Amino acid sequence: MPDRDNTAQRIEAAALRSKRSAPPGWAKNGFIAALDIGTTKVSCLIARVVGEGIVVVGVGHQASRGLRSGTFVDLDAAEAAVRATVEAAERMARENIRQVIVNVSAGSPLSRLVAYEVAVGGHEIDDADLRRILEQAKIGQPDAQGREVVHAIPVGYSIDGCRGVRDPRGMFGQRLGVSLHLITAARGALRNLSACIDRCHLEIADKVVSSYAAALGCLVDDETTLGTTLIDMGGGTTSLAVFFDGELIHTDSIAIGGIHVTKDIARVLSTPLAQAERMKTLFGSCLPSLSDDRQVIEIPPMGEEGAGELSQVPRSLLVSVIRSRLEEVFEMLRARLEDAGLDKMSGRRVVLTGGASQIPGAPELASMILDKQVRIGRPRPMKGLPEAAYGPGFSTCAGLLRYAVNHPHQGDSTTYRPVDPPASRLSRLGQWLRENF
Ligand SMILES: Nc1ncnc2c1ncn2[C@@H]1O[C@H](COP(=O)(O)OP(=O)(O)OP(=O)(O)O)[C@@H](O)[C@H]1O
Ligand SMILES: [Mg+2]
Repeated sequence: MPDRDNTAQRIEAAALRSKRSAPPGWAKNGFIAALDIGTTKVSCLIARVVGEGIVVVGVGHQASRGLRSGTFVDLDAAEAAVRATVEAAERMARENIRQVIVNVSAGSPLSRLVAYEVAVGGHEIDDADLRRILEQAKIGQPDAQGREVVHAIPVGYSIDGCRGVRDPRGMFGQRLGVSLHLITAARGALRNLSACIDRCHLEIADKVVSSYAAALGCLVDDETTLGTTLIDMGGGTTSLAVFFDGELIHTDSIAIGGIHVTKDIARVLSTPLAQAERMKTLFGSCLPSLSDDRQVIEIPPMGEEGAGELSQVPRSLLVSVIRSRLEEVFEMLRARLEDAGLDKMSGRRVVLTGGASQIPGAPELASMILDKQVRIGRPRPMKGLPEAAYGPGFSTCAGLLRYAVNHPHQGDSTTYRPVDPPASRLSRLGQWLRENF
């Protein structure tokens, strides 16, 4: 005779796993929207759920306002930019949206690895136990610095102290343990993000740390499995996400981005910011070449409003300004990876994405300083995504949509799933857990 309780639990668990076509966090009308609020641009993608996949039906993007290095400094201005962007995407999609999956750059997102255990009293471990332990692990974290958990990603389970369990469901034991990668951000900054979304009469379906979203947008499975460091070079921030054995194991960010390169150019060449931005995009590079001294760039002087005489500077000066700032950025990232003990573990591969990764020579410079193979990452193919949104600046927004597909909404941003590495990866994951706990 079948055990009724057990059967009911199994049905519930199966239903939970198969809830993909219309997860509860997604709009009832089958639409999902991703909103990337960046320091220099806001972008929104609206997608329609079709079967188990999605088709992009609305795109909006425009210059951002009210943020500095990913942090809100003027809510009115940010609200206006977000509203205009979402409305543009809604017009194209011919649909109004209510909920958005939004990126988190503010509040200095920080990664931490923790181990947590709960009593399971000898019964068969099920989905409810996994949910409970993740919830308790999140709630149980000390909140000394007023930080909030944005992601709690299980990277390994244990039963009665026995580590290396791939999927504890269906197994028996007294104590269930989980090793978690926690990403926290300052509560005040998260409240400002919520306030901005609220003012736009939208709701947050989920929050995803920007570099994680950018990685989901452009990394292929082999890269996350073999170990890759994603570097998102934005306007006001440069952030990284490290993957190992298919799991996100570390994130970090520094408050320097493409805007700082532009400001350096404006300062050194004494030209308006708009001109400096133009020169960076048109003639910029961080790789010196023999012809740089012979190539002359004409620039308008600061404050003359087009009336002043153009001054001439060798392109080599522009290149050296850009190069020294990007050297600083990559050296800081290298030091951060070393501090986290991840310089070796972060894989042989780096993927650069974000608008500022388009500065010619950035991959070569990154490769030299970080001593890794480097490629530029763009959004992976997605049905309905227009050609213009396949630039590196759209990786984060595209990744937010992918997150929605891969992580049926749980009512919060806990990444809830069994750790399921292929058998060949188990020993390495176990070794990594031993080294880190
Ligand atoms: N073709 C290009 N060449 C060089 N730099 C570029 C190019 N296109 C965009 N950028 C730079 O990319 C930066 C913007 O990148 P992105 O749109 O990824 O930033 P963001 O998401 O708004 O900012 P953040 O992620 O830091 O909050 C700007 O500094 C811009 O000057
Ligand atoms: Mg960005």
